Amino acid sequence: MSNLSDFELSRRGMMVGTAIATTLPSLADASPASVAVVHSARVAFEVNGQPQQLELDTRTTLLDALREHLHLTGTKKGCDHGQCGACTVIVDGRRINSCLTLAVMHEGAKVTTIEGLGAPGHLHPMQAAFVKHDGYQCGYCTPGQICSAVAVLDEIRAGIPSHVTGDLTGPIKPTNMEMRERMSGNICRCGAYSNIAEAMAEVAGEKA
Ligand code: FES
Ligand code: FES
Repeated sequence: MSNLSDFELSRRGMMVGTAIATTLPSLADASPASVAVVHSARVAFEVNGQPQQLELDTRTTLLDALREHLHLTGTKKGCDHGQCGACTVIVDGRRINSCLTLAVMHEGAKVTTIEGLGAPGHLHPMQAAFVKHDGYQCGYCTPGQICSAVAVLDEIRAGIPSHVTGDLTGPIKPTNMEMRERMSGNICRCGAYSNIAEAMAEVAGEKA
């Protein structure tokens, strides 16, 4: 038994020794500078009609650029993984998840956040409809829902079909099913979906 233990010990010792021997030279070669390099870049874009220029770590998402650098905290961080839609903003007329895109990819773009759609006293019609139809409860998902809803109606007007669009020969109708399908990337933990659909239907001039 003692022979076996000695063998196990020496085998483990040899493996640890080998691992250390192969790792140490590469650690010794790594200078502190090569470990700590941060690449930054300048990006200029328009946010809510205002020109903005930022010097950013190139890994900064558009969401973090908006929230942490421009202090536009209306855009929310939910999952930070492209799964909830809380971070939806409109870039050059199209809705995107701002947590899934790097800010430096949007040089020259026109970005619209919830702050740019409207504000108390002069609400965007979609914001007013959400208030009227109680399209929220806690409100955390709401900025993303509203940005998405505005862009959805533009997509429908532009004739861009969705997975549930049946007739592709004429104008697309903003039906309840059409809007629910297109809003499926915007999650509401409070379950305000019916009221959100009603708000969208009102702005679209349809019955929910
Ligand atoms: Fe971007 Fe959830 S925070 S999709
Ligand atoms: Fe609470 Fe949508 S209103 S998550």
